[in-house]
Amino acid sequence: MSVLFQTGKLHLPIRHFRNKFIKFQSLKCSSDAAKKFVVFDEVNALRRAQAQRSLVVQVSSESSFKELYGYCSKYATISDIHHYKNTSGEHFMLIEFENEENLTNILQQCSSHQKDLDVMPIQSPFLWFRAVVGSKESANSSKELAIKDGNCCVDEDLLLEELAKCETVSDQIMLLYQRTMLNDIGIRLRFMVARQMEMIFQSLYSNIVVQPFGSSVNGFGKMGCDLDLVLTNVLTKEMTSASRRLVYQDKKYEGRRTPWQRHLELIAHLLQLRAPGASRVQAILNARVPIVKYSHDLTDLDCDLCYNNTSGVYMSELLWLYGSVDARVRPLTFAVRRWARAVGITQPHPGRWVTNFPLTLMVLFFLQQTRSGGAILPSFKYLVNKSGREDIRIAEENLNCTFLRDLNKLPASAFGQNTDKLETLLFQFFEFYSQFDFQERAISINEGTSIRKPNASPLYIVNPLEQAMNVSRNVSYEECERLKLEIRNAAWHLETSLDNKKGDDWGLLGLIEKKTARGLKQLLRLGNLQRLVSVKDLFKDDENEPSTEGIKSKLQKFGKNKSTEKTDSDEKSEKVKFKNSQIAKEVFRIRRDKIL
Ligand code: GTP
Ligand code: MG
Repeated sequence: MSVLFQTGKLHLPIRHFRNKFIKFQSLKCSSDAAKKFVVFDEVNALRRAQAQRSLVVQVSSESSFKELYGYCSKYATISDIHHYKNTSGEHFMLIEFENEENLTNILQQCSSHQKDLDVMPIQSPFLWFRAVVGSKESANSSKELAIKDGNCCVDEDLLLEELAKCETVSDQIMLLYQRTMLNDIGIRLRFMVARQMEMIFQSLYSNIVVQPFGSSVNGFGKMGCDLDLVLTNVLTKEMTSASRRLVYQDKKYEGRRTPWQRHLELIAHLLQLRAPGASRVQAILNARVPIVKYSHDLTDLDCDLCYNNTSGVYMSELLWLYGSVDARVRPLTFAVRRWARAVGITQPHPGRWVTNFPLTLMVLFFLQQTRSGGAILPSFKYLVNKSGREDIRIAEENLNCTFLRDLNKLPASAFGQNTDKLETLLFQFFEFYSQFDFQERAISINEGTSIRKPNASPLYIVNPLEQAMNVSRNVSYEECERLKLEIRNAAWHLETSLDNKKGDDWGLLGLIEKKTARGLKQLLRLGNLQRLVSVKDLFKDDENEPSTEGIKSKLQKFGKNKSTEKTDSDEKSEKVKFKNSQIAKEVFRIRRDKIL
């Protein structure tokens, strides 16, 4: 089941995608455009329920499908089976049963443990399908796999080729979004990992909930993004009611470290020892939000697990909400995030640079600015003012996270009537920040206008839920300068590209990957032996005249050529020859652009 719920605001003149988005266009046309919005809690409850009736089963290949289906359907009713592979080339089937009873049933009747003294048995939703002894199960069903190889990311070269063929930059932005956004199975797997954690921790903690947050659920996630998990202790009013007179004894923690740090330490050990699939477990306990980092090899996910960080979940809800107000928000943010990665403003690991989360706030802030037809997004203050009793949420440390949750209640006046194309918005984004006074002003989505910077942080982006905090306080002066420079470069590139399209790096291509880098990648692509180029291959070994020179001396000659002045004829005779002209062209282009 696809859970793509949005409000119906779409104004994209995109031929390729018109059919896919016709649904949203017609929603916008209807008088109650926003009525189709499904609140964040409901979407997540659906996903949780889906995971509670699902199993992930390792199989030998996708052709195991019929046999697995035949075996399982003898005991339970199956809704769907999705196939995926991890990077180790192992095959898995994610089976969704019709209900939880089905799942309990099949686990009771069919599951077993390994009889091995080195293994302490554990129950989790991750299993494997044992080869049959004797005759195979026959499945006479017309049932097909819901998806094959569903977890693989888009082929980058193919994507770039497709982007080059687009007719407009708006088309490119939309294509990038469509091809790279987190898909259904990507989300399902994330909830399966959360479910597995929950099952394991439930043996130690009562009323525990593990839920994904961040880009896995906020609508801004791309395939392969990390999985942020939060573990919370849910105690309902009834559970703590004074009228219940039998109360569980608890273990009070006394020690130098905070209880959160101790619990996370314990959880790190548990993951290491007890969680199938978890590897490279690392507890980072002294951070502002202590986390346990680990890899989940069965699903190829990099996970960050924290304790009780409910404000992170509410923040994800806020981003989900903003992404749903207008159908241009997510594609635009994807383009900006992708550009930032390509020019090295964001990095895969944390440091003194900006990350995707503050970048997303920058996009939202830009869309809150007044333009023809009105601002595209309302300010956060507006959402707070429109909230009701049902929206009250208090996070850890008494943080007030109350804001309007249900966009169906947002008055039509809150939606601007702006119809700018995505390409115009992308260009204006860079233009807006080219002129923004980062020195004096802070970005605040609470106000929707900039405010005076409260301190000298190079980049100041107000945390909407904790207004005294700067979400980009880690960003150094140098990184902020680089951000400003790249923004100006991008604005310049788009300005020339929008008027004069279809060069090699036209439109989005020039922002997300230069043609030179593309050529290099293609040449050096690992794992493709026919196209793999070794340094040795770059130089011509003349078959007729065996060379007396080694690569080292040829490289030295390269250096010399650069540093000493030569006559044309000298250069000609000393020029290193390449095996074929394509490689030669590529190497010279690379040297020219100083990529190597
Ligand atoms: P990617 O992982 O880069 O795809 O993006 P992400 O949105 O998941 O960002 P990240 O993993 O860095 O953070 C996870 C989530 O934590 C964010 O989406 C926010 O919801 C939340 N978050 C991040 N920084 C802060 C912060 O400073 N304060 C609060 N309250 N929440 C934060
Ligand atoms: Mg994340």
